[in-house]
Amino acid sequence: MSAPNVDVSQNGNIRTMDSLFTVAEFDESDFSRLLDRPRPLNMERKRSFDERSLNELSIGISPPPPSRTAEYSSRINDHLENMFSPGRRSGYNTPRSHMGFEPHPMVAEAWEALRRSLVHFRGQPVGTIAALDNSDEKLNYDQVFVRDFVPSALAFLMNGEPEIVRNFLLKTLRLQSWEKKIDRFQLGEGVMPASFKVLHDPVRNSETLIADFGESAIGRVAPVDSGFWWIILLRAYTKSTGDTSLADLPECQKGMRLILSLCLSEGFDTFPTLLCADGCCMIDRRMGVYGYPIEIQALFFMALRCALVLLKQDVEGKEVVERIVKRLHALSYHMRSYFWLDLKQLNDIYRYKTEEYSHTAVNKFNVIPDSLPDWVFDFMPIRGGYFIGNVSPARMDFRWFCLGNCVAILSSLATPEQSTAIMDLIESRWEELVGEMPLKVCYPALESHDWRIVTGCDPKNTRWSYHNGGSWPVLLWLLTAACIKTGRPQIARRAIELAETRLLKDNWPEYYDGTLGRFVGKQARKSQTWSIAGYLVAKMMLEDPSHLGMVSLEEDKQLKPMLRRSNSWTF
Ligand code: GLC
Repeated sequence: MSAPNVDVSQNGNIRTMDSLFTVAEFDESDFSRLLDRPRPLNMERKRSFDERSLNELSIGISPPPPSRTAEYSSRINDHLENMFSPGRRSGYNTPRSHMGFEPHPMVAEAWEALRRSLVHFRGQPVGTIAALDNSDEKLNYDQVFVRDFVPSALAFLMNGEPEIVRNFLLKTLRLQSWEKKIDRFQLGEGVMPASFKVLHDPVRNSETLIADFGESAIGRVAPVDSGFWWIILLRAYTKSTGDTSLADLPECQKGMRLILSLCLSEGFDTFPTLLCADGCCMIDRRMGVYGYPIEIQALFFMALRCALVLLKQDVEGKEVVERIVKRLHALSYHMRSYFWLDLKQLNDIYRYKTEEYSHTAVNKFNVIPDSLPDWVFDFMPIRGGYFIGNVSPARMDFRWFCLGNCVAILSSLATPEQSTAIMDLIESRWEELVGEMPLKVCYPALESHDWRIVTGCDPKNTRWSYHNGGSWPVLLWLLTAACIKTGRPQIARRAIELAETRLLKDNWPEYYDGTLGRFVGKQARKSQTWSIAGYLVAKMMLEDPSHLGMVSLEEDKQLKPMLRRSNSWTF
């Protein structure tokens, strides 16, 4: 619910509001001054920004051997080619096709709807509202969600309108510095809000921001993904504009360090993956995603890699960078080894021995083969594979989750072979994963007893609805990006064509229901902004694949030699 945040207090209300303005004004002049820098200088900065790899940063890892220099320089060239793909401002409210094609009529409608969803704060656009649907109870759909804003931000960046993204990044950064309390419990300093809204006071003619860090959210869920999306978006902004001055601001550097220090702290963990409560991400209700959900692990990996290129190696940054490098090595090894499932790996698990002790154990997490669900044997194609939903002691969640797998491809958490295998799986399980409306958030749905136990009898998450096997048009942009990265744009084209048969006619629903995604979701909001923006981003990316660079990271070869697997490594 979007009740006012009575428990969340701002550090000195008035002072904070004042400083919001001061910072914004300071930034503006600083920004334009920096933009006036001679271009070549900026290019140099940008090159180092993009090319900083684990290799250069690794503690004790030496620069590439001469034999690999050629490979490195070709990578650099590839990057430089992709680097300057700044969005071209069309000069129109709705952009025209850059390739000379007449754009699909839905594109113009989508731009208009996206612009209607803009939220302003003190005269500046700062985000987009989750849904413009007034027919239903608003709940918190009248807020700007951090995760929902990402496709909007990408659409604006691709259209050469970076200002709103910059405003959003700075505003949410200010919200991060609020004192965050739930009842009597204080949240970590680095926590980013799930969402925020602008409160208008017509009497005093003033505007204030209120934010939700989970203390108002249904189920009091923690937005673990928000901080990661914030870092990923900061890199997309930097990559798209070629302007490093925003990321270089001391407050942005600090914001990143705070987000990461929440995740890189040492504790009791025996795994490099990040332990989370249920409902911590796009699936923000109880759905059995607690533990080590793939969505968070993939976003964590991507945010770590983005931070690596954005963080300055000053006194404070250096230590964080060292921790990131170590974590990336461990995380990629763990994910690529233990979350990966293909036919061979499935067969190995099927034949696992249990109760093995010591480091020679093959079945390290003591997974009981009887816990393999029946559906997975039919679902697994001969060619193909995917990262499963969760891995922890005696628990492998074999469900397919779309967002985590797409982000794994984009961040290069997946090796090139694994990325290909994920796309093979999508192609061969098209009916199950795409059906009539792209794209299932997860597969399969939980039914009957499982649904009761795992969701706690959630009436919104009944089988094949909402988070429980529902089809979410927003995922189209992630699928398209993954398709382009793996060289299969035709898959994206097919999915987009499916969406074009219904999305506008149905007024941009939040999600669809049913095994084929044929029905507008039971409680789906209409005019759902990320359905609109997701469609636009998918279209723009297909038309101009150089946009992919904003959301994609090349494989870092330094992570590869670390891969070694004692059993059943198929690559
Ligand atoms: C739903 C979704 C969540 C999204 C929110 C606003 O709660 O599960 O991911 O951020 O709606 O659209």
